[in-house]
Amino acid sequence: MSGPAVLLLCGLLALYLLRTITTYARLRQFRGPTWTGISNWPHSIAMLRGNCHEWYAEVNEKYGPIARVAPRVLITSSPEVWMHVNNKPGYKRSDWYYKAARIEYRRDNVFSQTDNVKHEQRRKQMAPGYSGRENLLLEESVNERLEDFLHLIRSKYVSTDREIIPMDLATKVQYFTLDVISSVGLGKAFGMLRSDRDVDNYLQSSEEGLTIGHNALALGFSWIAQAPFIGKFVAPSPKDNNGFGKMMAACFRLVDERAASSTDKRSDMLASFMRHGLAGDELRTEALEQIIAGSDTTAGAIRCILLHIMTNPRVYRKLQREVDDAVRDGLAPGRGEGLVTASQTKQLPYLQAVIREALRVWPPVANIFSRDVPPGGDTVIVDGESVFLPGGVCIGYSAYGMHHSEKIYGKDAKAFRPERWLESDPEKLVEMTRTNDLTFGHGKFQCLGKPVAQLEIGKTIFELLRNFDLSIINPTRPWETRNVLGLFAISDMWVQVTERAA
Ligand code: HEM
Repeated sequence: MSGPAVLLLCGLLALYLLRTITTYARLRQFRGPTWTGISNWPHSIAMLRGNCHEWYAEVNEKYGPIARVAPRVLITSSPEVWMHVNNKPGYKRSDWYYKAARIEYRRDNVFSQTDNVKHEQRRKQMAPGYSGRENLLLEESVNERLEDFLHLIRSKYVSTDREIIPMDLATKVQYFTLDVISSVGLGKAFGMLRSDRDVDNYLQSSEEGLTIGHNALALGFSWIAQAPFIGKFVAPSPKDNNGFGKMMAACFRLVDERAASSTDKRSDMLASFMRHGLAGDELRTEALEQIIAGSDTTAGAIRCILLHIMTNPRVYRKLQREVDDAVRDGLAPGRGEGLVTASQTKQLPYLQAVIREALRVWPPVANIFSRDVPPGGDTVIVDGESVFLPGGVCIGYSAYGMHHSEKIYGKDAKAFRPERWLESDPEKLVEMTRTNDLTFGHGKFQCLGKPVAQLEIGKTIFELLRNFDLSIINPTRPWETRNVLGLFAISDMWVQVTERAA
């Protein structure tokens, strides 16, 4: 090697070492697993293994409520710190995470937008459509899809003492959430429940899209899909035959049909978005985002609630009794008289406790949701002590660490025990509820779809338990699950369903 080349190499090496040392020094007061102070690899490996949510929780358990998971990245299991980070002006969503969550080439949706001003503006345009205030058909649309779901089970998947007909609950629940979100979001159901198949390969394409995005983020390649010129050929496009491409094409087609028909006077989410000024590419991208944000999330929630019910006979019996008593006492319609209403489900304390508890034990959305600390740094209070977070670093959310906290939930925090929501004293209950609400995010970043999700979840659990008995077919392996971009790809949740006597 020639002299100048050696000099250049030594110079580059010196620069690299200097950068590594200064980055390390900035967060040296925070502890974390070996190598996380100088390398992104431990974080990347945890992501590639599909269980980084568990790794974050282990890190917080071992190294404290604010710990280091990468040279510039901290993770917190403290609800106070996470609320502070989401409320205080100056913090913003981190580009490295949220730009990787973009679906289209260089186009942001409300979730991927990292500029606080633009995000606030877009949120204002969308909130009325998500809230139900301008989406008058919300519950009616969910009812129609829930009827489809019950009909599908009843017509094809009812087992008897003589014959077991296995049903993959993971797939059917996602057919349901996709049909709901397409109905309430686009004005037309994809029709998965009625045809009992993955129409237009949505399930497949969303899983592929999330997996591609997840692996690219873990390996540090996400920027390529957003890079000038080459990004266009790498990012998903409606012309693709795999990944998010197919889903984009079908979703954009439906949006364009609606936008073109000016006589359409419906009062749904899309109509509300249009009324608040969204059009063209912006409208298309938000419609696509709501399908992705509204299906895997709620499907994960319904599956995890059902899994915890099915594997806890004590809870199962108690909940089914509450459902039956509600029908007997006229607090819910009888069989054949229509579906339980969302407001009726809210009056059932044990059902609400079961839902809260399952989302606590197994939060279905466990992204890091990284935020940049303001450039001048900031001081946060953890367990009564002031901790300085330097500018130029990020801090993220450790869902499993936070929601399994023994300090907040007691010694049995990792166990599924809905009763804890009914027996705690009022002060404790406020702390538990405030923490549990963080499963849907906080402040200006709180989930826009929370009312839609809660409506779907309460009604679905009630109606499934009222109509059927469900049990897991393979108790040693109840499902396959993998964390992809903080959502969960769940499959092979085989159950047997029997019809309950009317
Ligand atoms: C149990 C189900 C759900 C859970 C646990 C959940 C959780 C979350 C969380 C934690 C966030 C905050 C993201 C952040 O801090 O950056 C979020 C944002 C969001 N969610 Fe949900 N979600 C659920 C269902 C839904 C549904 C059904 C929809 C659509 C109908 C939806 C649409 C959104 C949107 C659009 C955002 C972005 C809000 C913003 O950037 O301002 N979610 N969700």
